[in-house]
Amino acid sequence: MSNCIIAPSILSANFAKLGEEVDNVLAAGADWVHFDVMDNHYVPNLTIGPMVCQALRKHGVTAPIDVHLMVEPVDRIVPDFAEAGASIISFHPEASRHVHRTIQLIKSHGCKAGLVLNPATPVEVLDWVLEDLDLVLLMSVNPGFGGQAFIPSTLDKLRAVRAMIDKLGKPVMLEVDGGVKADNIGEIAAAGADAFVAGSAIFNAPDYAAMIAKMRGNVAA
Ligand code: DX5
Ligand code: ZN
Repeated sequence: MSNCIIAPSILSANFAKLGEEVDNVLAAGADWVHFDVMDNHYVPNLTIGPMVCQALRKHGVTAPIDVHLMVEPVDRIVPDFAEAGASIISFHPEASRHVHRTIQLIKSHGCKAGLVLNPATPVEVLDWVLEDLDLVLLMSVNPGFGGQAFIPSTLDKLRAVRAMIDKLGKPVMLEVDGGVKADNIGEIAAAGADAFVAGSAIFNAPDYAAMIAKMRGNVAA
């Protein structure tokens, strides 16, 4: 299927020339820009915030910016990201005291809302909020760093969440993040994902377009 979403994580881009990197990866066929926000509190790493998101918009990036918040608390930073040009804002339930309220907050600022499940977070956390979500993001590594190995149990979890979404009958996207490579993207897609975050697989490749095309081809295969 070529209508899958490929979302390169700029965590693995060269931050010294970020605008150029994002232009290049979009010209190479990427659909979204995956924007990893880490606070050295919820996760043991520190990355980028709303100012960088705004700078990418000012630079001329028009593609959807898929903001993955690995921050605690969540709510205070949501309006800042909405104003900075975020399209989708996803957060971890463990980092929000009131998950339903945070989802509504994101939507009230005109963004699509996503909930992120860590490898050990049960899918039941979706039970009473799935219908309010635009996206579910399943972590296939523990959050905090790029370049980690895909955790195989994510495949069963994808199947479980895919069944929940199909039963609901609403167009909630199912995204997977962590260790996605050209050689495992086919089985990840077969398990039910329709959006794929890939950091090191794309930004460490010598030819972004060739890697993205290879990934899309393996989704379709
Ligand atoms: C991890 C981040 C991921 C990460 C993916 O906390 O959320 O987006 O950058 O990197 P790779 O594709 O290298 O596993
Ligand atoms: Zn991410």
